Amino acid sequence: MKVVFIGDIVGSVGRKAVKEMMPYVRKKWRPDFIIANGENAAGGRGITKQIAHDLFEQGVHGITMGNHTWDNKDIFDFIDNEPRLVRPANFPEGTPGRGTAVLKADGKELAIINLQGRTFLPPLDCPFQKADELVKQVAKKTKHILVDFHAEATSEKIAMGWHLDGKVSAVVGTHTHVQSHDERILPQGTAYVTDVGMVGPRDGILGMERTAVLQKFKTQLPVRFQVDEGKWHFHAVYLEINSQTGLADRIELIRYYEDQLLME
Ligand SMILES: [Fe+2]
Ligand SMILES: [Fe+2]
Repeated sequence: MKVVFIGDIVGSVGRKAVKEMMPYVRKKWRPDFIIANGENAAGGRGITKQIAHDLFEQGVHGITMGNHTWDNKDIFDFIDNEPRLVRPANFPEGTPGRGTAVLKADGKELAIINLQGRTFLPPLDCPFQKADELVKQVAKKTKHILVDFHAEATSEKIAMGWHLDGKVSAVVGTHTHVQSHDERILPQGTAYVTDVGMVGPRDGILGMERTAVLQKFKTQLPVRFQVDEGKWHFHAVYLEINSQTGLADRIELIRYYEDQLLME
């Protein structure tokens, strides 16, 4: 099974990047499933029903979220009726939406699980315990399990990789918006990368317009950030999952910028 996981899509530039890259991604990697992190898709903050719809139309099979899940109010109107969108599973009991989904395409099944870290982020339920609980649950349905661990600390993400090694197909990190160069297959067969990286404005700071961010760093005064414009960069990972074992055969980083795509 071939899977492409696309990192945090940031704002309209990020959405444009996905739209432009999608035919190329389909042609080059021929994925059975395309999953994308959509927590910043609507102006950097959350996602709307329309944006989720557009991503599905373009060929995304499942959307994962993160700490920005609730930033756009629109989500409360559709999250309970959209089984292909998952938010961190370790939010408190009773939170709208779900933390896991079993996606189907062409007779194949892929479970996705979204979890959020607790280091330098709000104190949610334990993501490690929640991971055990959910992996046990979805493993009854399929061997193909992808975990998006949305976390800030590299150590917490690496810890999750080791915690789930041999139990899931892949643990991919999101949230930092910077692709890490540590992709590998762990000894028990789980594909791992600390951060997939972002999709969106390349010349900003993590997708935000840079003068405002610079001003904040220099003055420490309150500053309103907005999503940057301009050219995009696109970060994702390609995974091959063994259909017999559910473990990973391959993980590859994908990294493109706008002008580079035009050249190919
Ligand atoms: Fe993000
Ligand atoms: Fe985030």
